Amino acid sequence: MRLLVTGASGLLGLNLCCVGAERSMDVIGMVHTRGLKGAPFEVIQGDLLAIDKSLSKIEALQPDAIIHCAAIADLNLAEKQPELTFQLNAEVPGRMAAAAANWGIPFVHISTDAVFDGEKGNYKESDPTNPLSVYARTKLAGEQAVQDANPDAVIARVVFFGWSLSGRRSLSEFFFNHLGAGKVVKGYTDTFFSPLYVEDLAEALLEMLDAKLAGIYHVVSPESISKYGFGVRIADKFGFDSRLITPIEAKSLDRGAQRSLNLTLNCDKLEKALDHQLQKVTEGIEAFYQGWLACYPKKLQGFASKEAE
Ligand SMILES: NC(=O)c1ccc[n+]([C@@H]2O[C@H](COP(=O)([O-])OP(=O)(O)OC[C@H]3O[C@@H](n4cnc5c(N)ncnc54)[C@H](OP(=O)(O)O)[C@@H]3O)[C@@H](O)[C@H]2O)c1
Repeated sequence: MRLLVTGASGLLGLNLCCVGAERSMDVIGMVHTRGLKGAPFEVIQGDLLAIDKSLSKIEALQPDAIIHCAAIADLNLAEKQPELTFQLNAEVPGRMAAAAANWGIPFVHISTDAVFDGEKGNYKESDPTNPLSVYARTKLAGEQAVQDANPDAVIARVVFFGWSLSGRRSLSEFFFNHLGAGKVVKGYTDTFFSPLYVEDLAEALLEMLDAKLAGIYHVVSPESISKYGFGVRIADKFGFDSRLITPIEAKSLDRGAQRSLNLTLNCDKLEKALDHQLQKVTEGIEAFYQGWLACYPKKLQGFASKEAE
């Protein structure tokens, strides 16, 4: 299969491209401003805001499927640039989904747990959404644009952690970097999530393609944890001092964009569709640790190049 992945320099996109390449898939990764040198897949450059040009480029490559990971995923940047964020997170996915429908190929759109307000937790796909920030509102608008343009598309609501190109993108890297350097950090005791390890998420997305699923799915861990608890688990796994993590309530702080507190998601629908369980947080942290032992972060960071080619 010839798989096109957008956002290939991002946390999810890069891991997904590597997992696809390991499966001997013919992977094409699209980057925007960051180049990738020596990556085990074909790399193309494109600005998805120039959507007509990017779609022509993609069409010429004749992919068999697209997984669309590119987005403005920085909540505070989204608050500062709402129009640009709407364009990239809402309009672009609609155009990409329409093009995939036109070309007759499967399309997976990556969305977020943040479409919910975090009042309830254990959200199912059928639960009402209520996004709180610019980022979350534009991501929900992206889901709607994709569904309108292409009812066969998959919308994968995700949350994940792992190793990235910069070594600084994920919450797990935040705890690893700071605790490893003996620095004191805050750990939110009132913020809950259901994160999958990013390589497990990548495998699940590829399985969803194989299974020809359509519609909204929560592609998350069946285990939920507070951000404080997550930090403690990382500290324990790597042998860092977990007392460096100060337990604190996020709701007492001003952190720019408004964030939902209980974003635990229910993944029963996907587990049923794939006929197996998704990985628990404990298993994900073990895989994150094993990746470190195997020098996986060094390998990913070695792909960093100053400019997109
Ligand atoms: N991180 C999380 O925990 C999380 C949680 C829930 C949902 N998500 C969703 O998961 C997806 C991937 O997130 P991530 O954390 O992997 O993102 P990321 O690390 O912030 O990477 C974003 C990617 O989008 C690309 N991009 C940005 N503007 C672009 C443009 N104009 N044209 C083409 N590409 C552009 C970037 O390219 P360059 O870097 O090359 O410029 C980069 O590859 C997103 O849809 C996000 O909303 C993430």
